Amino acid sequence: MNYDDVQACAGFIRERFTGEMPKLAMVLGSGLNSLADALEDATVFSYADLPGFPKPTVEGHAGRMLIGKLGDKPVICMQGRAHAYEGHPAEKLGYATRVLWALGVETLVLTNAAGSLREEAGPGSLMAITDHINFSGVNPLVGPNDDRIGPRFPDVSEAWNKALTKKLLACANALGIPLHSGVYLMAKGPNFETPAEIRAFKVWGADAVGMSTVPECLVARHCGMKVVGISSITNLAAGMQGELTHHETMEYGAIAAVNLEKLLRAFVADVL
Ligand code: HPA
Repeated sequence: MNYDDVQACAGFIRERFTGEMPKLAMVLGSGLNSLADALEDATVFSYADLPGFPKPTVEGHAGRMLIGKLGDKPVICMQGRAHAYEGHPAEKLGYATRVLWALGVETLVLTNAAGSLREEAGPGSLMAITDHINFSGVNPLVGPNDDRIGPRFPDVSEAWNKALTKKLLACANALGIPLHSGVYLMAKGPNFETPAEIRAFKVWGADAVGMSTVPECLVARHCGMKVVGISSITNLAAGMQGELTHHETMEYGAIAAVNLEKLLRAFVADVL
């Protein structure tokens, strides 16, 4: 993931989008397509056209970058992301995040679909990510470090920005949207977890489990961006309910998406 490639991709985007470059970007997990569609005056880039971008392969992930306005606030929406389970090399999982940094983005809102380890945070609910456990075995920062991007040993004691998370909770409260808070654990996938794994993760302090997001957070913190995150709970984790299916993930993702969309609109209006 080299500095010159990232800058070249940012240059490619700047040549084609000459408006005010947003300072905030959102990565939209599965089922949040309607928010991207709601952007006004959007300039759309297919990941397939962006130099160096890994191409997503999962159903429900469109693979587009949209630069436009949400309300009257300039934002970038990343519709779809690369996952480790697709077989992308670790360094590619942070490529898009570094391009956002090279474009001047300062705040990154990460969303995902996740299974809940807490009975009271059931399918269709939302959870603000207060911290994470990287159980994926994948780290996009492995390899030679480029000091122009960030330090060799980045501090991640506040990986998830406390002040922004507090604002998110305040927005949810004002809207009457229930928003849980908790620790997100990333597993590599592509299989859902076993019930024994979920029992172990509960002991470790995990509240939600999913297969994404942590690589983007690490890359964003490395280059000094602020990060805030929300999981859409699509199911109770393995062993806490019946069989898990991708179809169910999409179905409950759509229910959570209605509230998540309202929440993201309010959050953007508040912080920008
Ligand atoms: N496990 C991992 N990833 C997920 C889950 C889950 O239960 N639900 C949605 N994404």
